[in-house]
Amino acid sequence: MCGITGYTGKENALPILMEGLKKLEYRGYDSAGVAIFDEGNIKVIKTRGRLTVLEDKLNGLTISTTCGIGHTRWATHGEPTDENSHPHLSNNGRFAVVHNGIIENYRELKEKLTGKGYVFLSDTDTEVIAHLIDYYYNGDIVEALIKVRTKIRGSYALGILNSELPGEIIAARKDSPLIAGTSEDGNFIASDIPAILSYTRDYYIIGDDEIARIRPEGIEIFNSDYELVPKSPLRVDWSVESAEKCGYKHFMLKEIHEQPRALINTVSPRVSDDCGIDLEINVTPEFLTDINRIHIMACGSAAHVGQVGKYIIERLARIPVECDLASEFRYRFPILKKNDLCIVISQSGETADTLAALREAKRRGVRVLSIVNVVGSTIARESDEVLYTWAGPEIAVATTKAYSTQLSLVYLIAVHIAKTRGEISDSDARRLVSEIKELPEKLNQVLAKTAELQYLSSRFYNLRDIFFIGRGVDFAVALEGSLKLKEISYIRSEAYAAGELKHGTIALIEEGSLVIALVTQTALAEKMLGNIREVKARGARVLTIATQATAEAVSEASDYCLMLPCCYDMFTPSLTVAALQLFAYYIAAARGCDVDKPKNLAKSVTVE
Ligand code: G6P
Repeated sequence: MCGITGYTGKENALPILMEGLKKLEYRGYDSAGVAIFDEGNIKVIKTRGRLTVLEDKLNGLTISTTCGIGHTRWATHGEPTDENSHPHLSNNGRFAVVHNGIIENYRELKEKLTGKGYVFLSDTDTEVIAHLIDYYYNGDIVEALIKVRTKIRGSYALGILNSELPGEIIAARKDSPLIAGTSEDGNFIASDIPAILSYTRDYYIIGDDEIARIRPEGIEIFNSDYELVPKSPLRVDWSVESAEKCGYKHFMLKEIHEQPRALINTVSPRVSDDCGIDLEINVTPEFLTDINRIHIMACGSAAHVGQVGKYIIERLARIPVECDLASEFRYRFPILKKNDLCIVISQSGETADTLAALREAKRRGVRVLSIVNVVGSTIARESDEVLYTWAGPEIAVATTKAYSTQLSLVYLIAVHIAKTRGEISDSDARRLVSEIKELPEKLNQVLAKTAELQYLSSRFYNLRDIFFIGRGVDFAVALEGSLKLKEISYIRSEAYAAGELKHGTIALIEEGSLVIALVTQTALAEKMLGNIREVKARGARVLTIATQATAEAVSEASDYCLMLPCCYDMFTPSLTVAALQLFAYYIAAARGCDVDKPKNLAKSVTVE
């Protein structure tokens, strides 16, 4: 959500800013802009629309500059227009500001600044920052920013230029991501690593409430008392290629096919050859034995992983699990007890609601274990314990490999807790771990069904609605399959617990409707057969996804049956989801949708 880039150094800044913004396109945006130094003044070029529109505007200019900031905007306050695009200038043109986040008290600040003669040219919350900095500026921008921070409420990552100091960028953040990259040829700011990866692998995390001064010769980071904060740079350990499409038409397709490798990378460091588990977290067996209740909090697909987790942890470890959407958890006065454990799941580690849920749990004295993909992200840093998913960078907005790797960690957690509490024997635990280790190979078998899934997609790509039904973990995966389909293809889709059909959704079934029935749970296959017959009797076509163990019970009643390899019932979501991802992908591609950047969606939702 909003992308920020900035560069100062020896090179021409504009191509670097534009390249960085392109790498951040996945975050979602509807307008873009840059601010650069041009003969001692700050020049702003911005527009609504895609980066190609900005490029067209820039092509007519002959500016060579070595310092600037860039922005892709995902509109929150004010429509996507040229005026509302970032950067925003102070009235005297001295300061240019790009911002990711929301300034919650912008209305009262706007009123106050208007009273002091400032003129607002946009409807954004961001513009108040440009004017506030100007208002408090007394020759030292860091000092002014320290003052500004005491006046604004909300979340922000900021990149600022000061016309009095060409070649210098000031950056600050609170609850929105921002890093500072460093290289011999110059220094950078960016919302995420892919924006700088073509130039450097070395970067600093700018901490919450810190301010960074970025100059060609170096980076200084200050705390809110204007004291230097000593920091060592971190090094990115993934390659430029891992953030490129590498011959695939879309990042999403590449990331779907990367899942077997991502599972191996995530699981193998945590399991031994003889199928023991070592999660390498600082949690004692006594703590696990005493857990009273587990709360899983997440948003979007990560919340769907939590739904699967509820079934599995309750089944194996016999601990009650509540799975909450983080945006609900934070405001519902949840009942948390001393011996509870909170599990927070997030690919980006920056989702605003998930972070708030984590903080609420910690404020209430409950231990938080997070499952996170982005190393060093805010959620990872603030959790008591972190389990990283080693999925590598995920660029497509619709998550695939992050979901799958999160699932694999949930399986390991469930088995580990179940064994520690004596709910399953040591040999059962080893058998289950062995099943988890076999998932990448079985996943490859599902991915090999591309031609079948492409064929099925070609039959259904022009439908208006598609329904998903399932029971148990199949219901939890149905939620994810339905979300994947709707977010990238814009086909209306609903996922239902199959037993709930009769309580309403069946009214929507008509001649020709497509119902995707997930039937991987042996004990529930007969029940699903009943549900398949119910919808067929009302004219629906049924695509069943079953395993070799359940297909016999349901394939005859279905119009199409896609067969998955056999595996332990509780772990089938890892296989089912891959089939649903490919189905959604090929449908969206057939409809000509912008698969990697669906409209209105953002990869990293850093505002509430
Ligand atoms: C956005 C993304 C989803 C993701 C959700 C939660 O909506 O498009 O793919 O599941 O945010 O993000 P997180 O980074 O916390 O997993």
